[in-house]
Amino acid sequence: MPDDTQTAPRADGAPTGAFQIAAHGALVVSLRNAHALEKQVTAVLEAQLKLLEDYPDLHARVTEHIVATREQARRLEGALEACGSSASLVKDALLSVMGLGQSSVQGFSEDAVLKAVVADMMTEHLEIATYRTLIALADMAGKSELRPRLEESLREEEAMADWFDANLDAILSRFVELKASELQAEAASQDDTSAPDGAPTRTLWQTLEDARSTSTMPGAGTGPETADQTDREPSSSEAPAHADGRRDG
Ligand SMILES: [Fe+2]
Repeated sequence: MPDDTQTAPRADGAPTGAFQIAAHGALVVSLRNAHALEKQVTAVLEAQLKLLEDYPDLHARVTEHIVATREQARRLEGALEACGSSASLVKDALLSVMGLGQSSVQGFSEDAVLKAVVADMMTEHLEIATYRTLIALADMAGKSELRPRLEESLREEEAMADWFDANLDAILSRFVELKASELQAEAASQDDTSAPDGAPTRTLWQTLEDARSTSTMPGAGTGPETADQTDREPSSSEAPAHADGRRDG
């Protein structure tokens, strides 16, 4: 427990007492880490933009958050200066926790958008925890004057996390719709090269069926549901024919 006689702030705002000095040290280290994190987030989000071109709402929200994130980094630089430190000392060390976000924009894999969204949601909650930590340490270090700028950044991170919560279903629905459209285009091209009777290949058709079963969210109804069901292969409930033409049952 801190000794109150050791924590009274000096007139010049410098930390006094062992507790406050320790809190000040922890605050400065945490501000530097937060600054490195914001720099990293800026780079990751900028790299994501190309990936998100087919997701206009998400693209616009991420673009907006990049602007906010740059300002957050500037606020942290100001906070470091107010603590007698300098942002120039900040090393933009790679944070392992951002590994997912980075990999999500490398290679543009099939599920790159999903990885990016999960990484972004994780990052927002990491940042919320980071700013809560900074606010608590600022109070302990006798630097409560840093609260307004830290709270402003905290509110921005919470707003971004709330936006993802409110829009996740719509983003996922869009992802599935786009995949379904790709599958339909693929199926159409397969029709041209399939068996003589014109039936699409079983593997591809099964994939379409899988996409249909996952496209149940509102707004996802423009996908494979429109496919003509009269010419599909027999369902699993229909008795399969043996090679010699016999049927079970
Ligand atoms: Fe941020």
